[in-house]
Amino acid sequence: MTRFILRFSPGLAGILLARVAETVFLTDHGEEILNNCAKNVDLNSELLNYRAAVHIRELDWMSPWPPRVSPGETPLHQRYTWTFSEVEEVQGASVIVAADVIYSDDLTDAFFGVLERLMSLGSEKVLYLALEKRYNFSLSDLDVAANGYSHFCSYLRDEKDCEEVKNGCLPCFVGKVIDLTQIPKYVKEYERGNDVEIWQIRYEKRSQFRDSCDNET
Ligand SMILES: C[S@@+](CC[C@H](N)C(=O)[O-])C[C@H]1O[C@@H](n2cnc3c(N)ncnc32)[C@H](O)[C@@H]1O
Repeated sequence: MTRFILRFSPGLAGILLARVAETVFLTDHGEEILNNCAKNVDLNSELLNYRAAVHIRELDWMSPWPPRVSPGETPLHQRYTWTFSEVEEVQGASVIVAADVIYSDDLTDAFFGVLERLMSLGSEKVLYLALEKRYNFSLSDLDVAANGYSHFCSYLRDEKDCEEVKNGCLPCFVGKVIDLTQIPKYVKEYERGNDVEIWQIRYEKRSQFRDSCDNET
């Protein structure tokens, strides 16, 4: 059973996860959206009968991990601020979930910056990321292109490629697309379309045990 789950962006999936985990952290950036999330969590608590402790916390991908912490208990006027022990809990999380966060290259860069730090600290984690490819007219291609998606893919390697990067001496993100036909669809009227994907992403840390790595620059 998963103990701690970190959910980037506080949508429905994060709230549903509170039915199966021990602790869930729902994060986003900005007071208004965090207030909205808190309201959704409260409104659905009876219906969904959470088993988890649900924490709503501010996490700006543009700032480095770990976030600023408040000493001791979180005061009421800083209700979305992390405590030191919560940061430690999140570093011990096993599952991270994110949905629809790939749409701007700057944000994608910031997002992977936070992931790199977070996934290299504490326990081994796996990220499940759902996305829908967004198409725009690209002046450089003079055509419609999913450039945000290409930028996202540029962060990922498959297992074999990752092993080959300097013989496994450099850390890398290993990504695998999940076969959605294997995931049952419960909402019958909903069409998934071909541009929806779910990725399973792990972070392979630099091997500490390969002598050859020590000679790499
Ligand atoms: C397109 S929405 C996706 C919402 C998501 N599907 C959900 O279930 O909540 C993108 C989300 O990224 C968040 N976001 C944008 N910039 C951010 C940043 N710098 N740090 C953290 N989250 C950010 C937005 O507030 C928004 O919730």
